[in-house]
Amino acid sequence: MYIQTILTLSVILLCDAKLPKSKPYNQPNELPLNPTEYSQAIRLLQPELKNEKTSRIVDQYVRHRREVFYPNLYDSGLNWTHSETLDQNGDVVLKWTSSQTDIMFRVEARTLGYVGLGFNWESNMKGADLVIGWIDDDSGRAQILDCHGLEVEGKPVADEVQNYELISGHQNRTHTTIEFRRLLNTKDNQDFVIGDDTTQVLYALGPPGSDGQLPKHVDSGSRPLRLLQPFTSPNSAPQMHWDVTINNLSIPHDMATLFWCKIFKVPDLPKKHHIVGYLPLIDSRPIRNGVPVVEKNSLSPVHHMVLYECAVDPDEYSWNEWAESVGYFGPNRPSEWAICATPIAAWAMGSKGEFLPHNVGIPLGEKGGISFYMLEIHYDNQALHEVLDSSGIRILHTPTLRQHEAALLGAGVGVSALHLIPPKQRQYRTVGICSSECTNSTLPDTGINIVSVLLHAHGTARKISLKHVRGQQELSVISEENSYDARYQQSRVVPGGRQFLKGDIMITECTYDTTARDKPILGGYSTSQEMCLSFVLYYPRTELAGCYSMTPVDEFFETFGVKEFYFMSMIKIQNLFLSSGNLENITSPWEFDMKSRNYVEETGLQGDDQGVRLLKSLVIKNPAEFRNKSFMAHLNEMQWSEPLLTEPIEQRLYRGLHMMFCKKQDDSWGIPIQIQAYPTYNALPSNDVSEKHYKRVRLPSVTTASGSHRSHIWPAVLAICLTVIVAR
Ligand SMILES: *[C@@H]1O[C@H](CO)[C@@H](O)[C@H](O)[C@H]1NC(C)=O
Ligand SMILES: *[C@@H]1O[C@H](CO)[C@@H](O)[C@H](O)[C@H]1NC(C)=O
Ligand SMILES: *[C@@H]1O[C@H](CO)[C@@H](O)[C@H](O)[C@H]1NC(C)=O
Ligand SMILES: *[C@@H]1O[C@H](CO)[C@@H](O)[C@H](O)[C@H]1NC(C)=O
Ligand SMILES: *[C@@H]1O[C@H](CO)[C@@H](O)[C@H](O)[C@H]1NC(C)=O
Ligand SMILES: *[C@@H]1O[C@H](CO)[C@@H](O)[C@H](O)[C@H]1NC(C)=O
Repeated sequence: MYIQTILTLSVILLCDAKLPKSKPYNQPNELPLNPTEYSQAIRLLQPELKNEKTSRIVDQYVRHRREVFYPNLYDSGLNWTHSETLDQNGDVVLKWTSSQTDIMFRVEARTLGYVGLGFNWESNMKGADLVIGWIDDDSGRAQILDCHGLEVEGKPVADEVQNYELISGHQNRTHTTIEFRRLLNTKDNQDFVIGDDTTQVLYALGPPGSDGQLPKHVDSGSRPLRLLQPFTSPNSAPQMHWDVTINNLSIPHDMATLFWCKIFKVPDLPKKHHIVGYLPLIDSRPIRNGVPVVEKNSLSPVHHMVLYECAVDPDEYSWNEWAESVGYFGPNRPSEWAICATPIAAWAMGSKGEFLPHNVGIPLGEKGGISFYMLEIHYDNQALHEVLDSSGIRILHTPTLRQHEAALLGAGVGVSALHLIPPKQRQYRTVGICSSECTNSTLPDTGINIVSVLLHAHGTARKISLKHVRGQQELSVISEENSYDARYQQSRVVPGGRQFLKGDIMITECTYDTTARDKPILGGYSTSQEMCLSFVLYYPRTELAGCYSMTPVDEFFETFGVKEFYFMSMIKIQNLFLSSGNLENITSPWEFDMKSRNYVEETGLQGDDQGVRLLKSLVIKNPAEFRNKSFMAHLNEMQWSEPLLTEPIEQRLYRGLHMMFCKKQDDSWGIPIQIQAYPTYNALPSNDVSEKHYKRVRLPSVTTASGSHRSHIWPAVLAICLTVIVAR
C-alpha cells in the first residue's frame, strides 16, 4: 500500500527537530547509518533537548530510523517456538518466541494492506495495546506503529513512546509478513504487560492499495492465547498413535447438550507403552438436506472430550462387548462404567492438544495394567444443528518408557446445582477443597510431584487459582489464571514442579463476573451452567482419582433463608444429591448431563441436570414469608444487586461448611464423606498483580497538550492510525 502519510510523519519529525531534510533515508536499514553522520544529526538535535517533549521526539526519530528499511536486506532467521492461526481460515498466522525480557513476533497475513495486532484483557479495542504494520508499495519499505485503542471500536491512537521495534517486513503477491520485537514489560502505561495470563490477541486486516491512508479494516477478530506458555513438543523417541474416535454419531438438532460415552479396548501392544501426548481429532459434518457435508468454516459442537481409564479385569466379558458397541448417551450408560474414573487426557475447545513433559508418561496397554478406556464427548449444540460426528482423541504413545509414571487427579467444586453463582456480581468467589484427611490417607509418604494443571470453568469465570496449604501455612499458588477465557483451554506447566505432601490441602478458587446476568447460574455440565475444577497431572501414580467438595444441602438452603420444604426432608434431598446420578455415583467432573429426553420422563426428579429440576420443584414450607414458592422462584426474586445480601452469602458459602469427597480409581471412597469447616491457615498476602491486570492502559490526556511539537505531531499520527480492530 502507498502510505503518503508516513512520509509526512517523518518530515514533520525532522522539521520539528530542525534537521536538514537531505539524506534522511539513504541507507534505511542501518543504525547508525554512518557513525559520523549520525552523531552529527544528534548534535544538530542537541539544542532542542530542552524539555521532555523534545527528547521524546528525538527518541521517536532514532527509533524511526530503525523501523524503516528495505526488505530482503535483513532476515531474522529466528526460530519461532509458537505458531497459531488467529482466524478460522488460516489467513492470519502469528508466530512468536520469547526470552526472559523480550518477545519477538512474526505475523503472516493474507493482505496487501496493513495488518494490525492487539493485546488486551477483553476481546475488543478499548484499552488495547495495538501495533500496526504494513509495506509501502512504492518503496517496499516496512513500517510499524505502536498505538492503543480508546473505544470498543474506533480509531487507534499512536502511543507517545514507540515501543515496538521492526525486525523485518516484506510482501509477496498475497501476503504481508512483518517481524517485530518488544519488551515483555515496556514500563509504558500505554502498552500491555505480556505475562502468564491469557491474553486476547486481536487482529485486523486493511484493504489493499489504500491511497495515503489506513482505512477501516476489511477483516478482524481475536483469539485468546497464553503467549508465555512454555513450549512442549514431542521428543525424538519413536512414536505411535491410537485414534480413539466416535464413529458416525448422529446428533439431533433438538439436543442442545449431549454427553456421549463409549468404551475402547487398548490396541494389542507387545509390551507396556507410555502415553506422551494427545491431539484432538475433530470431524463434525453438518447435515444439509439429509446429507453430511464437509464445511471449511462450520464450528464443531464438540465442547470437550475426556478419556478415562477403567480399572477392570481385561477378561471380563461385558467390557469386551461394550468395546464393540457404538456407545451410550451419558445418562443411559451402564452403571459399571462408573469405575472409568481416572482421566488421562482432557481436551476442551481451544486446545491444540498436549505433550507431556519429557520425564513423565502415562502407562498404556494391558501390560501396563489397563485395558479399557472410556471416551466422553460433550457436544454443545446450542446452535441446534443436525450433525454427523466422528470426533475423538489421538493418543500418542511410545515403547521407550519415561522416568516417571503420571496420572491426572480431578479437584475442585463437585458439579451440582448447589454450586450457585448469583447474578450482578463483579467478582464472586467459590471454592472446592481437597481435604487434608483425603490426601493423608491416599498419597504416598513421599508425596506427589505436580507437573501441570488444567484449570476449567465455563463462561462467567474470570480467574481460577489452585492454592496449596501445608499445616497452618499457605504456600505459593500451584497455578493461577487471572484472565480466564473458556474458549482457551490448555494446561499450565508448573515451573519446576511442585511437591505436594500427605496431609496438604488443595483449594481450587474461582472468581466469576456475572454483571451481565439477571438470573442465578447453577452448577452443571452444560455451558450455560458453571464449574470450578482443576485437573492436576502428577507422578507417581496413586489411587486417588478425584477430590471435590460442595456445600452441605441444609447449609446451602439456610444460606438462602429456607428452613423447610413441603414433601421432602433435607436428609432426603441430600440423599438425592448424593445418589441420584449426582455425587455418589458420579466419578468424574465431566459426568453426564441428564438432558436425554426419555431419561427425564422415566426417572422424574432423579433424572435431573445435577439437581436443577429438583430446585425448581421444591416448594418452601418455612419460613412463612416464602411459603408456597418454589425454591427457584425464591432465588429469582432475591435482590441480587444488593451487596448487603450477596456478600454474606459469598462469605458463608466460601468460609463455611464443606462436604468433602475423596474418590479412588476403583470408584470407592478414599475416606468417608466428611463435613468440615473451611480450613484455618495463614493466608499469603493477596497478590495485587491480578488486580493490576484489570487496569486499562492509561489514556493520553489530549486536553493538556499545549506544546507546539505535540500539536503538530499528533494530528499526523492520528491520521495514520485509522485501523479499527473489533473482535467477534
Ligand atoms: C534455529 O534452530 C536451528 C536448529 O535447531 C539452529 O541450527 C539455529 O542456529 C537456530 N537459529 C537461531 C537464530 O537460533
Ligand atoms: C507469500 O508469503 C506467505 C507468508 O510468508 C507464504 O505463506 C506464501 O506461500 C507466499 N506466497 C508466494 C507466492 O510466495
Ligand atoms: C460414516 O458415514 C459416512 C457418510 O455417511 C460414510 O461415508 C462412512 O463410510 C461412514 N463410516 C463408517 C466407518 O461407517
Ligand atoms: C495422617 O494419618 C495418620 C494415620 O494414618 C495420622 O497419624 C496423622 O495424624 C494424619 N495426619 C494428618 C495431617 O491428618
Ligand atoms: C450408586 O452406586 C451404588 C454402588 O456403588 C449402587 O448401589 C446404587 O444403586 C447406585 N445408585 C444409583 C442411583 O445408580
Ligand atoms: C400454601 O398452600 C397450601 C396448600 O397448597 C394452602 O393450604 C395454604 O393456604 C397456602 N399458604 C399460603 C400462605 O399461601
